[in-house]
Amino acid sequence: MDVSKIMAVFFSPAGGTQNVVLALAEGLPLPVEKLDVTPFSKHQEARTFASDELVIFAVPVYAGRIVPLAAERFARMKGRQTPAVCVAVYGNRAYEDALLELTDLAQQNGFVPFAAAAALAEHSIMRSVAHGRPDKQDAQKLASFAQQLWQKLEQAPAGSSLAVPAVPGNRPYKAFKAVGFVPSASSACTRCGRCAARCPSGAISPACPDKTDKTRCIFCMGCVSVCPVQARHINKALLWAAEKAFALKFGERKEPEFFL
Ligand SMILES: Cc1cc2nc3c(=O)[nH]c(=O)nc-3n(C[C@H](O)[C@H](O)[C@H](O)COP(=O)(O)O)c2cc1C
Repeated sequence: MDVSKIMAVFFSPAGGTQNVVLALAEGLPLPVEKLDVTPFSKHQEARTFASDELVIFAVPVYAGRIVPLAAERFARMKGRQTPAVCVAVYGNRAYEDALLELTDLAQQNGFVPFAAAAALAEHSIMRSVAHGRPDKQDAQKLASFAQQLWQKLEQAPAGSSLAVPAVPGNRPYKAFKAVGFVPSASSACTRCGRCAARCPSGAISPACPDKTDKTRCIFCMGCVSVCPVQARHINKALLWAAEKAFALKFGERKEPEFFL
């Protein structure tokens, strides 16, 4: 099967999912075009892909599911029996139903998810967990998986349908109940607006970047990750206690899993 173009469509508020996509791209023989649907300004982005294109969908896991905002944005991407690679990125706790949900979503929208992966990235809230991941070891595994999935594509006769691997997870998916911390801005805020530009949910207005609409915040830490003066933060005392307990329970290194 010939592939004319590769596009990565990803949602990555704190940048970990994007790093996984970049590592995967290293193992592919064509340049990977990037469509970052994270910012609120991209919430109506829509595309249709042909059967000779390859699409990589990558999304973070929140509470064992895919982020609902990302699911909405991915649902605007339509395939025509377009081969797809589905990647769920998690912070070393568990990915539960997220990868299954992502592959189901891809299929519902006309894609053929012939390859899938559950990969690790630094936990965007509890940053000492999976700190620095994806690391060199992850990058090697991701690049080698990319080579294998490319082989699967190349070996498939033109016009044939690619086999879709089974991935872990249950239907119906677990209920989505993400809890987290709403970041606020300290007096160090320079009102540069980078946080507003990154915020996926429109919880930070460009006119008042030192305020957060708590009803819209999805706790993604995108604003914290892009703030150049560390003005955006979450309550350190609360985080310290939560992170200590979390690291004790989920600190042991997990490895990426691949499905072909
Ligand atoms: C609200 C929220 C919920 C999360 N839930 C999970 C989870 O259920 N399991 C897990 O292992 N990691 C969880 N994480 C960690 C993220 O999946 C992980 O840090 C991911 O790399 C974030 O992607 P990003 O850096 O592209 O934003 C959660 C993070 C947030 C912000």
